[in-house]
Amino acid sequence: MAGVVSVSPAAQAPAPVADVTFTRHIAPILQRSCQRCHRPDGGAPMALITYEQVRPWARSIKTRTGLGPKAGVMPPWFVEKNIGIQGFKHDPSLSESEISMIAKWVDTGAPRGNAADMPKALDFDNEDKWQLGEPDLIVRSPDVVVPASGPDKWGSLGTVPAGLAEDRYVASVEVREVNDIPVGGTTTTVGGRYVFHHMTYESVVQGGTGSGDAEAQGTSWPIHEVGRNPDIFPPEAGRLLAKNSALALSAYHLHSNGRETKAHLEFAFRFFPKGYQPQYKRSTLRLGNGIDLDVKPDKANQELHSYATLQEHTKIIAFEPHLHAPGVRMCLEAIWGHNILTLNCVGYDHNWVKQYVYEDDKAPLLPKGTIVHLIGFLDTTKENKNPADSRNWAGGGRRSIANMFIDLGYSVSLTEEQFQAEMAKRRANMKTRNDYDIGCPLCWAPPVQATPTTATRAPGQQQ
Ligand code: HEC
Repeated sequence: MAGVVSVSPAAQAPAPVADVTFTRHIAPILQRSCQRCHRPDGGAPMALITYEQVRPWARSIKTRTGLGPKAGVMPPWFVEKNIGIQGFKHDPSLSESEISMIAKWVDTGAPRGNAADMPKALDFDNEDKWQLGEPDLIVRSPDVVVPASGPDKWGSLGTVPAGLAEDRYVASVEVREVNDIPVGGTTTTVGGRYVFHHMTYESVVQGGTGSGDAEAQGTSWPIHEVGRNPDIFPPEAGRLLAKNSALALSAYHLHSNGRETKAHLEFAFRFFPKGYQPQYKRSTLRLGNGIDLDVKPDKANQELHSYATLQEHTKIIAFEPHLHAPGVRMCLEAIWGHNILTLNCVGYDHNWVKQYVYEDDKAPLLPKGTIVHLIGFLDTTKENKNPADSRNWAGGGRRSIANMFIDLGYSVSLTEEQFQAEMAKRRANMKTRNDYDIGCPLCWAPPVQATPTTATRAPGQQQ
């Protein structure tokens, strides 16, 4: 910079916060983004509630919160913030200023601060608390008993009637494992706290409906996996849990955890009000390649690509990267004419499965004909701690040592009218013609005219 002799790094740092203390600045961050896991029996290895609990971890907290969107970062949430859409439901991640505040707190000796500043402790007494609030219906699976040690087990738990006397549309679904591992016990790893690795399930109408409508016969539900966040369906696209349906608990994967464990799953549904009807149809968009994969040994920056052309106008509701141990990152692009929009890039750590549900007014709105491009990034060198052995070639397959490359997210398809109405809402949020909505390539295109013969140009649209 001309005329400036030296600029100290401190002068370039974000606005300094005077005297960062635990009670005033750090405790509120831990309450919001950490304590759901970092509390007794919350799944994380240590509680981060009191000053005494947090102080010994100060250095490690600075490191883990400052890693950026990749394996190891805390809280586990991997959206890259310098590219693509920013706006997800239930986003626990820390802002840049919170991350630098934590660093400053640690670097200045991690002071406790004034006891009067300490926020009221969160109430975790109710271990049964559901993240999305009290459910309208809980369906319970049969019990399983998993021996203290033994091979992994795959299988079906049969069907469980949902007990509905009428059709209901589901606003959200949350699944959790309930087991007899003692609270306050010695188990401090996630694998030690749970025995269900995952469960795929769908609902089926008992005895059939006689109708040919696939949606009336049954509904597939997002997978349950340890640590995966609950699913929230958009107000226009609730999923049907039909009357007389049962959950078909078709494919579980169980693992031993060193202690004989009795466990079951609870499927908690929240409904839209009676009489609700969805406006949007579920889209058939599927992205990825689970079979034809070639994963080379000991090699960083390997890429996988998958493309799909949208047959209908589409709103993407959720993005859910699914790779296996070699996976480190996934990006989603939309190619419309000569525009290539990076919708999102997210880090991937196979220790965590995360889905990213877009805020309703941020979700990609893609016209029919858009090419959606999924890119997976793999690293099989020792830099990536997840693969068992960096020397092995691997292909695609269902086992954990084989690979997958899929977006498990979901979308809805829109009629022309719905698509135009959604874009009109977006335009209303944009203040000037220079505002840009990532993921909405036609947001600024002139509205479609009723018929070509009667077309007149709307004022302000001539170009
Ligand atoms: C979704 C649950 C979850 C949330 C939210 C979460 N953590 Fe963690 N954290 C874990 C688990 C599980 C581990 C152990 C596995 C690992 O190290 O990745 C862990 C590990 C850590 C470690 C390393 C412990 C060690 O043994 O070295 C630190 C430090 C940490 N978390 C801090 C935080 C902070 C600070 C936050 C909030 C800003 C946070 N975590 C949010 C689950 C969580």
